[in-house]
Amino acid sequence: MLRRLGEAACSCEAMPRFFIMYRVDVITLFPQIFDGYLTQSLLAKAIANGLVELCVHNLRDWSVDLKHHKIDDRPYGGGPGMLLCVEPVIRCVEAVQAMHSTPGKVILLTPQGEQLRQQRVENLAQSNRLILLCGRYEGFDQRVTDILQPLELSIGDYVLNGGEVAAMVLVDATARMIPGVLGDEQSSWDDSFSRGNRLLEFPQYTRPPEFRGYTVPDVLLSGNHQEIAKWRQQQSLTKTELRRNDLFDKNIGFPTKE
Ligand code: 6GU
Repeated sequence: MLRRLGEAACSCEAMPRFFIMYRVDVITLFPQIFDGYLTQSLLAKAIANGLVELCVHNLRDWSVDLKHHKIDDRPYGGGPGMLLCVEPVIRCVEAVQAMHSTPGKVILLTPQGEQLRQQRVENLAQSNRLILLCGRYEGFDQRVTDILQPLELSIGDYVLNGGEVAAMVLVDATARMIPGVLGDEQSSWDDSFSRGNRLLEFPQYTRPPEFRGYTVPDVLLSGNHQEIAKWRQQQSLTKTELRRNDLFDKNIGFPTKE
């Protein structure tokens, strides 16, 4: 079963394939998980406009067990839980790779992977094609990683029930970097952690100028754009220093306080 999300709203018929700038294939045991969030809002529009293509594949379809479609088994040497077997995973990834002219970068979502950061997101958004492999149960047979040599990614130091939510995070974060996905009026450039700003965002205000005694800082009402820019930069620095001092660490490419 191949689910091509957003197809109902999609004008793919009229859209030559070369317009698709970014294709993501997701391999999972729970394809329906992706129906909701990834078919809504910005991402649905990007899919409908042919900027992003998202194909979700059910790993169970590549089971070698024709009767029960089993894809997992108990670990050799004992221990709790079940492991995803090497054969269906490799068969599935190879079949999915063959579905498109670009083989694609294979990414395995696992809490043992490199922690995802904005710079990695920006770098992955430059790929034409990603293949995301979502783990479940206790994980994969080690030979999956030995054979595929995937990029292993985690979204943080906590344990999820599977890689699906992490895959959605990755698709969401990378898709918004694809030119045309965000409207002209929106830009990813000034987002916290993004290329134009490696600091946390400054506070923003809109009307009214006063509510229950809480007022908008005078500088924002002053019309002095130089002063406003200075104030915002200062606010960003102070907030980052207070909340996320680790972001100044040169090792991860964020600026120093000076
Ligand atoms: Cl990618 N998978 C799982 N199962 N748990 C996680 C994760 C991924 N990232 C953080 N926790």
